[in-house]
Amino acid sequence: MNFLVLTPLTADLLPEAVALDQQCLGGLWTLEGYQRELNSPNSDLLVLQPQREVGTSSEPLIGIACLWAILEEAHITVLAIAPQYQRQGLGQAMLCALLTSAHQRGLEWATLEVRSSNGGAIALYQKFGFEEVGKRRNYYQDGNQSEDALILWRKGLQHPEFAQTLRGWQETVSLQLRRSGWQLLSPVL
Ligand SMILES: CC(C)(COP(=O)(O)OP(=O)(O)OC[C@H]1O[C@@H](n2cnc3c(N)ncnc32)[C@H](O)[C@@H]1OP(=O)(O)O)[C@@H](O)C(=O)NCCC(=O)NCCS
Repeated sequence: MNFLVLTPLTADLLPEAVALDQQCLGGLWTLEGYQRELNSPNSDLLVLQPQREVGTSSEPLIGIACLWAILEEAHITVLAIAPQYQRQGLGQAMLCALLTSAHQRGLEWATLEVRSSNGGAIALYQKFGFEEVGKRRNYYQDGNQSEDALILWRKGLQHPEFAQTLRGWQETVSLQLRRSGWQLLSPVL
């Protein structure tokens, strides 16, 4: 069993966060961009690190996720898992942690944009109740190519039954992590 620590990003891990961003997201934010998030009370920026044994020093970052609290909305701006660690339930663990935080902050809805070709991410968001509510045409510009962004929306974060929904997800996430040989140590979930 390998252990996982899911915690807010700290300044010492900024270079690793930028490296992971470059690897998984093609350089979405710079070091200054991540630094700004550290200082923002409206931002939750979480990182995931493996630990071989409880209490030992953590290994390099393998996941990063961020939300911005804007009015009643949780804008999910970053979600990425290092390629060699994908399909083990880690992405859903991080998304679940963001939605837990959004709920605790009293936010009503979660929203995000995703490339229309990113079927894996879309499937992940749908598992957590996100629905497509619109499209931004040619939102992503890659050289002379462009791609639409789907706008996804998850409502009901303050509905009375949502706390129960979160508990169900947390159990499912823990189970899937255990099946993949991981145990989450941190208190975020
Ligand atoms: C999207 C991403 C974060 C998913 O992380 P992950 O750790 O691989 O996801 P999980 O293992 O938790 O997957 C949970 C569920 O999501 C769906 N899913 C995730 N990746 C998938 C893929 N490549 N193909 C199909 N379904 C996928 C599945 O339903 C999966 O459940 P299952 O494994 O029981 O079938 C990861 O692929 C990633 O970092 N991609 C690059 C960055 C990115 O595109 N981020 C999203 C930007 S909006």
